[in-house]
Amino acid sequence: MTDQTRRLVDAARDAACFAHAPYSGFGVGAALLLDDGSIITGCNFENASYGLTLCAETVALATANAQGKLRAVREIAVIGGPLVNGTPKGHDPVRPCGRCRQVINEAAGLSGHDIVIHCAGAEGDTVEQHHISTLLPYAFGPADLGLS
Ligand code: THU
Repeated sequence: MTDQTRRLVDAARDAACFAHAPYSGFGVGAALLLDDGSIITGCNFENASYGLTLCAETVALATANAQGKLRAVREIAVIGGPLVNGTPKGHDPVRPCGRCRQVINEAAGLSGHDIVIHCAGAEGDTVEQHHISTLLPYAFGPADLGLS
């Protein structure tokens, strides 16, 4: 793992500790690497009306959008695991859900980059690397609406 990837995964791990996940007990953190080297983070935000839950990746990307930085997103780290005393545990990598893949694809279209996604466990050094085009092939996008 490069130092930069380590920094991104660590930021996602730190963010997961802020997860509001009293219903699933599963904390997720996401960290976006921007083209200037800066990082924006997010964590999952559950709701008593379960279906309203916001995933960590979507929270991070919405934050980037609110800062006018969606086009600058180049890489994303995602980590997660069952929360024990507010800290996610486990070694299994977490991969973005289907809805998050679609949201990441929107950012990829804007940035003109096939965003790299580092999927890691809450603990340990195993990190899977994917591109959004691999995780979401044949994506629905602006071209399907006649937009470029
Ligand atoms: N979750 C995320 O934050 N990101 C994903 O890509 C998958 C799932 C969250 C949603 C919910 O709060 C918890 O993980 C269990 O599904």
